Amino acid sequence: MTTATACPVHQGRDDRKSGALAEAHLAPQKGARLVTSFAAGRDILRSARVRQAGSTAEAVDLSKPDEISFFFLDGELHRKRRAAVAGLFAPKAIVTRHRVVMERTMDKIVARLQAQGSAALDELSWIMAVDVAAEIIGLTDSDSSENLALRVKRVLDSSIERKPGRLGNLVFNLKMLLRVSRFYRHDMAPAIAARRKAPREDVISTMIEANFSKKTMIMECLSYGGAGMMTTREFIVMCAWHLFEKQALRERFLGGPEEDQFAILEEILRLEPVASLLHRRAAEPVEAADGQTLAPGELACVSLRAVNTDEAITGACPYELDPDRAKRMKVNGPYLSFGDGPHRCPGAQVALHETRLFLERMFRLPGIRLLSEPTVSWNPFIQGYELRGARIACDPA
Ligand code: HEM
Repeated sequence: MTTATACPVHQGRDDRKSGALAEAHLAPQKGARLVTSFAAGRDILRSARVRQAGSTAEAVDLSKPDEISFFFLDGELHRKRRAAVAGLFAPKAIVTRHRVVMERTMDKIVARLQAQGSAALDELSWIMAVDVAAEIIGLTDSDSSENLALRVKRVLDSSIERKPGRLGNLVFNLKMLLRVSRFYRHDMAPAIAARRKAPREDVISTMIEANFSKKTMIMECLSYGGAGMMTTREFIVMCAWHLFEKQALRERFLGGPEEDQFAILEEILRLEPVASLLHRRAAEPVEAADGQTLAPGELACVSLRAVNTDEAITGACPYELDPDRAKRMKVNGPYLSFGDGPHRCPGAQVALHETRLFLERMFRLPGIRLLSEPTVSWNPFIQGYELRGARIACDPA
């Protein structure tokens, strides 16, 4: 098999924009066995014998399952909690409900960009990510979606701003208390009150029905915020950056059917996974492919960057952006970038749809151009990249 470095045709082309930074900063949890083969990674994520793990997961008190987010649950409890919200992510919900929100939000984004002349790309992608996730969660009774976005951002940014030491912890706790209570008062409380009167199809309505405590509701909403909003913001900017830079790929994206547009986005996500590491702890012995046997209690760290570029499953030149690869190799397009098994991202299709729509409409704007490229930085708390500083411009309406 031709390896990336030895490919005679492409001379080891590496199209990744986040690759070098990730290699320098990726930090698997101490003592974890690093899993780099696609087949073994998939087996471990799919196994019923492993438990969710990683930095915060192991600090969670599992004796009170009703008080914790379903991200941290496993087995039957996890299955039930996921089943309760599965319909919110179904293809029908995307086409009939979320698509309307995506279009409406994009109208707002386009109007703002055309009125201002230029804007920060990550601010625009953040608006899309927040509006779509807010609709799924049920955060639709805030004073304005801009204020909701700002309050969610402040809560989620708290951990990034966290400084080490006792003083750092104190400041972090105070900030969180203040920011979370603001978020609850202005965004969650009105949404909960509205749904007590008239339930809807959203996460908050299912939590009211299940009689969740205030604390659990807050944690669940913020977990969705982190999982659905922060990830999609980065993914949209990453895709836009690749497409601004590569004219032929952009033309293919704009000229092709939706199916091909998704293939392009999924291939970008394969190379530039927003989440890089997934940890699992074996509850019982686990036999995974390629001789990766986990002993009970053993911690595994599945490196999504490594498994997504495993030549056994990508074929030759794994670091090249090749939208035809997945079809040729008969693999799911994003490889393991949305995870796999019971915790596989339920929002995967939502994220792909909103990204596709954002890019399709943005690239069709007259005079659309990239004024400055983003800088790539590493967020150690989520072990993922952040793209800031990209500015785009277009002609006035
Ligand atoms: C490009 C965007 C996204 C990426 C790269 C992404 C990635 C992931 C990954 C890798 C996981 C698996 C975590 C694990 O196995 O431990 C996950 C889980 C999850 N994601 Fe996403 N996600 C994205 C968008 C979204 C969106 C838009 C939503 C909802 C609005 C969402 C909601 C969730 C939830 C609720 C989970 C937890 C599932 C569980 O534990 O059962 N994600 N995501």
